[in-house]
Amino acid sequence: MAVARKKSAAKSKTRIAIFDTTLRDAEQCPGGRMTLEEKLKVAHQLARLGVDVIEAGFPYSSPGDFEAVTRIAKEVKGPTITGLSLCRPDCIDRTAEALSAGKRVRLHVFLSTSPQHREGILRKSKGEVLEMAAASVARARRLIPEVEFSPMDATRTEFDFLCQVVEATIEAGASVINIPDTLGYALPHEFGELIRKLRENVPNIDGVTISVHCHDDLGLATANSLAGVLNGATQVECTINGLGERAGNAALEEIACILDTRRELKRKYATGIVLKEIYRTSRLVREITGMPVQPNKAIVGENAFAHSSGVHVDGVIKLMKRRSSFEIIRPQTIGREKTEIVLTSRSGRKAVKHRLAELGYDLSPAELEATYQRFLELADQRKQVTDEELESLVADEQRLAQEIYALDYLHVVSGGTTIPTATVRLRRNDETSQAVASGVGSVDAVYKAIAQLITAPHQLLDYTVSSVAGGTDALGEVTVRIQDRAGAVHSGRGSSMDIIEASAKAYLQALNKLVFRSGLGGAAARAKRKKRKRKT
Ligand code: KIV
Ligand code: ZN
Repeated sequence: MAVARKKSAAKSKTRIAIFDTTLRDAEQCPGGRMTLEEKLKVAHQLARLGVDVIEAGFPYSSPGDFEAVTRIAKEVKGPTITGLSLCRPDCIDRTAEALSAGKRVRLHVFLSTSPQHREGILRKSKGEVLEMAAASVARARRLIPEVEFSPMDATRTEFDFLCQVVEATIEAGASVINIPDTLGYALPHEFGELIRKLRENVPNIDGVTISVHCHDDLGLATANSLAGVLNGATQVECTINGLGERAGNAALEEIACILDTRRELKRKYATGIVLKEIYRTSRLVREITGMPVQPNKAIVGENAFAHSSGVHVDGVIKLMKRRSSFEIIRPQTIGREKTEIVLTSRSGRKAVKHRLAELGYDLSPAELEATYQRFLELADQRKQVTDEELESLVADEQRLAQEIYALDYLHVVSGGTTIPTATVRLRRNDETSQAVASGVGSVDAVYKAIAQLITAPHQLLDYTVSSVAGGTDALGEVTVRIQDRAGAVHSGRGSSMDIIEASAKAYLQALNKLVFRSGLGGAAARAKRKKRKRKT
């Protein structure tokens, strides 16, 4: 009897589909750029996380996006793969072509509907917009059986016109209608009401999935998405770490945890998200994009589960006994498990391998050995190596594999009245080159020396230092972002016990990406250099 009751309760839950747009909405923001291999890695991890839909890119926008959507559609199993398209025949056809490699695919077309966008950007009348939207959905539908339509800037669109567009696009064949709060302008009660009123006023809306896509310009993306769900939306579009255009999109980890944490919501709604994969996914995206996560960010920030400040001894003891008095989510729930095995320099290969496997890493014997050697170097200098540090070492090893320029030697003289001076030697294949530079500080001197050796024009956008764990012996992690002459942003991360070395590694990684992406690291460039050498 009890089992039967449980089963029927599970059946009556509303399934909320999680549509991840990290590879599209977040990827198009400054600093969010990823290489094809990085996109594939993120897409595979999103599949492990259990998302329902992966928006893999905007195929018409660039050959790189086209290839990414094609490869992800072909290789990533589980979620539906979608690509974004403008309401233009050539764009729709190209998007369908990219998706054709996949089995479970969806074509996502969008068109601005608000008066501001109709008049200011499209220069089209309501009638023209209506016609374009319906014709585009119909064309997409002829090419791909599943079509999603987004009336861009829906929250600033006249309600009657929005109803007309939604009705016409459903009639033309859209099976998902996504309501974007493109500029993050709506308030939760308004956004919830908009979803409810659409459901009440659009005659054919019951047969389709209503989706929400909220931006965080006023810090309300998650709240607005939740208001949408409470009013009948059954798909939420979101991103890992809340990355995205401007202030970002609704954060996937927040949506998933809200629906799982609040009992009254958990009784009514379910997602397919494997909560234990949340933290690993967050770290992967952070490592790949180089976009830091603020320490106090809900769920995935470094301090999200830190109880130390302001809690006196008595409180800490109580916390240990009754965690629920201080915690609404256990870190383990989202995969932030604390290890039972304390890793020290005496732990040995097996223990390191075991812990890496527990953390979800399946390394080749060579990668494992390289990581272990770096682990020993670190463990020799400190009492214990944490999970976060171990993960940083793996990330560093994996990055080394793609290095064009590697740091061969670094020596810095600074302090007191000495002018900070750095000597840097870089290795490229089997050639080395060396430079000396002075600067206003040690990092400045190192960066100037590196810039003498890698002359690709660029500008440093930002430089951030943090420590992976507390204490003066902690691993320092440096993130830098540089911009090339074409405006593209490249990020780099480096970690080391020595902050100057971490800074050099981060800068080198960003420059390696710049060189790689601009083709300066490719075979053509090598041939050019050889030719030049022969002439001289
Ligand atoms: O924010 C937005 O309106 C979008 C659409 C393309 C869905 O990203
Ligand atoms: Zn968006």
